[in-house]
Amino acid sequence: MIPVFMEISHNQTLEMLRAPVKRELDLLEKLFRASLHSEMPLMEEICELLKRVPGKRLRPNILLLASKSAGSIPEDAITAGVAIELIHTATLVHDDIIDKHKVRRGRPTIYSQWGTEIATIVGDFLYSKSIACLGEESLFEVMEILARACNIMSLGEMMQFQQSRNIYLSERGYMELIFRKTASLVSAASECGAIVGSGDRKYEYRSNFSLFGENVGLAFQITDDLFDYLAVDERIGKPIASDFTEGRVTLPFIAAFRNAPEMKKRRVSELFLVDFKKDMHWDEVVTFVQNYGGVEYSMRKARELGESAKSSLANIEPSLEKDALSLAADYVVRRIDGISS
Ligand code: IPE
Ligand code: IPE
Ligand code: MG
Ligand code: MG
Repeated sequence: MIPVFMEISHNQTLEMLRAPVKRELDLLEKLFRASLHSEMPLMEEICELLKRVPGKRLRPNILLLASKSAGSIPEDAITAGVAIELIHTATLVHDDIIDKHKVRRGRPTIYSQWGTEIATIVGDFLYSKSIACLGEESLFEVMEILARACNIMSLGEMMQFQQSRNIYLSERGYMELIFRKTASLVSAASECGAIVGSGDRKYEYRSNFSLFGENVGLAFQITDDLFDYLAVDERIGKPIASDFTEGRVTLPFIAAFRNAPEMKKRRVSELFLVDFKKDMHWDEVVTFVQNYGGVEYSMRKARELGESAKSSLANIEPSLEKDALSLAADYVVRRIDGISS
């Protein structure tokens, strides 16, 4: 049964992030939808699915806020925002093939409805469209940053694949992985915003914005990984309990595994490597992660990253948009609040 999708708590916070750039986000949404158009009926039909349940648009939102915080929101910022959302969507379409996930945003994934081949092609369509949008407007610097981010993300997905079934993945390895697969794109969103908004290739605070996005992205992925343990149902619009079940260890587990006594470690190792049955053993794994501080540690880490994100903008002139960026840093940490048991 497909669960009903409800955007997780903090809808109001998301609205507050959108408020200062609402007009631009609306325009961006129109252009994003138009960019999915093609002459091919099958591609049109599949892209309709993508339009029907939009994501949170967090990356373009951050890009626009960064743009305004750095000066203004020129048309180029909207193009860059469309391009980044196309890339993000492509990574999700491909990620669902890799993870074999059947549900995203509360709906069947393209992979589950159309199969691996078609989902691969749709992801490629989205990636290439992103480059085409940037090319049409000669946004070569943004293209360079986004191309680098895509390249890093693909290495992140490869690293995740390589590390699957490795119960000894270190916290350092995990942080590197989530930097690659998630934070690199959020960092690129924030940096691109700063570049187009300041209208200056050598804008002195460019790296501050890049660091802001990086820390927000890291915190965001940590809370996403916490959802996998803590969400009591599938209100998050995607499967829960999937990381451990599919052999991926994430920070909540890594931290608990580090603290647990030998005997308990042996038990979860057996479950992880040999004998895991979700119906029978999932509660035991969650209890393990909670009892040995994995949840607490991950929340603390996410909070610290959120604070670092905010302090990287300390030298940026005060503005409504800067306040909204700070709120974004709080949001990615606090979004966990409404979902835990
Ligand atoms: C999901 O990102 C992928 C991760 C990096 C965890 P989002 O949660 O931003 O996805 P949508 O676009 O809002 O669905
Ligand atoms: C993020 O990782 C995926 C990408 C950055 C493409 P996850 O695999 O944790 O994301 P979800 O949970 O499927 O959204
Ligand atoms: Mg996934
Ligand atoms: Mg996940």
